[in-house]
Amino acid sequence: MTTLETGTVVGAGLDRVDAPLKVTGSAHYPNDFSFPAMAHAALVGSTIAAGRIRGIDVTRALAAPGVLAVITHLNAPKLERGPMTLLGGSPPAPLQDDRVLHYGQHIGIVVAESAEQARHAARLVRVEYEPAEALLDVNDPRAEIVENPWGLDTERGDVTAGFARADVVVEETYTTPDNTNNPLGLMSTVAYWHGDALTVHDSTQWPHNVRASLATIFKVPESGVRVLAPFVGGGFGAGLRVWSHVILTVLAAREVGRPVKLVLSRPEMFTSVGHRPNSVQQIKIGATRGGDLVAIEHHGISSVAMEDDDYEPVSFGSAVSYACPNVLTRDRQARLNIPCPGSMRAPAEGQGSFALESAIDEVAHAVGMDPLEIRLRNYAEENPVLGLPWSSKALRECYLEGAERFGWSRRTPEPGSMRDGRWLVGYGLAGVSYPFYQVPCQARASVRHDGSAYVRSAATDIGTGTYTVMTQLAAELLGLDVARVRFDLGDSDMPYAPQAGGSGLTGALGNAVHAACRRLVREFLDVVRDDAESPLHGAAPDDVTVTDGRIHRIGNPAQGETYTEILTRHGLEELSADGRSTPPQAEELGMALSGAFGAKFVEVRLDPELGLLRVARVVSAIDGGRILNEKTATSQIIGGTVGGISQAMFEETATDQGTGRIANATFGDYLMPVSADVPDMEVLFIGGPDRATAVGTKGVGEIGLVGLAAAIGNAVFHATGRRIRSLPITIDQLM
Ligand code: MOS
Repeated sequence: MTTLETGTVVGAGLDRVDAPLKVTGSAHYPNDFSFPAMAHAALVGSTIAAGRIRGIDVTRALAAPGVLAVITHLNAPKLERGPMTLLGGSPPAPLQDDRVLHYGQHIGIVVAESAEQARHAARLVRVEYEPAEALLDVNDPRAEIVENPWGLDTERGDVTAGFARADVVVEETYTTPDNTNNPLGLMSTVAYWHGDALTVHDSTQWPHNVRASLATIFKVPESGVRVLAPFVGGGFGAGLRVWSHVILTVLAAREVGRPVKLVLSRPEMFTSVGHRPNSVQQIKIGATRGGDLVAIEHHGISSVAMEDDDYEPVSFGSAVSYACPNVLTRDRQARLNIPCPGSMRAPAEGQGSFALESAIDEVAHAVGMDPLEIRLRNYAEENPVLGLPWSSKALRECYLEGAERFGWSRRTPEPGSMRDGRWLVGYGLAGVSYPFYQVPCQARASVRHDGSAYVRSAATDIGTGTYTVMTQLAAELLGLDVARVRFDLGDSDMPYAPQAGGSGLTGALGNAVHAACRRLVREFLDVVRDDAESPLHGAAPDDVTVTDGRIHRIGNPAQGETYTEILTRHGLEELSADGRSTPPQAEELGMALSGAFGAKFVEVRLDPELGLLRVARVVSAIDGGRILNEKTATSQIIGGTVGGISQAMFEETATDQGTGRIANATFGDYLMPVSADVPDMEVLFIGGPDRATAVGTKGVGEIGLVGLAAAIGNAVFHATGRRIRSLPITIDQLM
């Protein structure tokens, strides 16, 4: 592995290269695509949560103006279920029988000349149900309990013996509600067929997964399926799986023999594209009087949909966070009649860290220790599950520098002891990590005759800055100005890329771009190897570097020539090279692969008479490995922090326990923070490139959210002496 050496391009806070396209309306999102003779679709959703469809009458819908087709389970073809993949498995194929498994389940699709006509006709479909009793509560003892399907439960040491040694034991239950991702861009699909070939514009975070899934589901060759997603209006995990509405749009297009467009409505977004499943977490922590953790036991139960296989290891963070000799973590799922959950920004850690980091705070209080001190005292110097050194970990520095910046030392320990006029003031913190995730990825790089570069991979940019950071990386590696580099993505005909998810894309793709660009420079050297006219002939890759589009010998800049000169003399239009990244292996490297770490410091202000809670300040000290772009990375942490404030104080998807209907499925009813709820935030990046990969990033997409809810809860405790163990923290809990 050759580690990336950087000059001035990588790391700089370059403005987004795609910003001009976005602000001028030239960036085309999936629902911006229209085609001649395109028809429009609307979905029919079930109005019960469990049972059977006794009959569907589509007569009036079919007779409505402009209607081309109505597809239900009565006339739908048999569809295969898509393949199971990590983070992106397909839920069961739609319209395969008369069963209803959740409220809002797609039980029909109407195709018409216009979207309005389709929506109108969808309302004319009459459905007669045979309802059954729905299981909707994660605590329902009748719910089937699913064992951990990923084998991620952990056990080390002897927790019983550990608790026997403890001077203090904290044992509490923490709960987190359903949250719904809701990217601003309504998820949309436009599909058209030509024979067995299929083209799909889709709001996906993973074009290759859509391609592979649709090929399986419709039994057509994968090579004939093309999925395009050059711009996506946000994701937060909602675009990881191949959802029913995508499959139905493709089916509708085949049925009517025309291009078909479907745009989900906001209420449909709440039942169709996943959500963060709720959790009930029992956590028990034992400590000595001196603040040494001696045992941790964490049991999580999350909800999952019927016949679905989504999974989040909610308790796993408790196994890796602290140097505690006796730890047991267990996750189970309760099968309910709910829409399929899916990853939502910081899946698993988002829920688990609320329980763990709140409970650590409770232990600190019980033993009379500063919450920062107890975390430093039990700092995991090595990965406690693997017993290996971390590939990088600057969490200690995050704690110390974050505390310094925040002014943690001003905190007086007693709850309720800090005031500012009528406001109670509270300081809280959390220390967190997000697991390393990297999967294979490919990229292709070309340098053209005019000396410009073109680099591409079938990845997506869900607003995170992928276009920008990959342009910077390629520019650095090819020795070109960023203006001479074009990075392209969002097309399944490009080299394979994994999902923009799990905070893993920048690493996977960055290492693939690194490999492709380095190989491309070697290709140029190969071309001139025996070329007596070239000042570079016979040069080895390690002998050269590239500056301003000119390859030259290290230490002798005069001895070199430009890409253009080489291509011209050899009569070549361009040279290309493929690169791939493969995930590093902990065992081979003898180190534990590190994801990002972060220390979050929060100040809250609370009006004790009104129960008003305000987040006044947040300092996030983040070890994200190499930061490719200071500005976009900071934006990721800020966005994640807003998501964390939202999780802590606002978001709760409310399911009506009588019907299974989502009761707040609009932006008017589903609470989120507005600007006035969000304070100034400081972001510090600490630590350097991770040593497990060439590029050394660790992913910053999710770490910004993790632990924020605990830090806010801990600050509320410090302000009031009241411990809130159920999210979101609402006024009624504070009065
Ligand atoms: Mo992320 S929730 O893995 O898109």
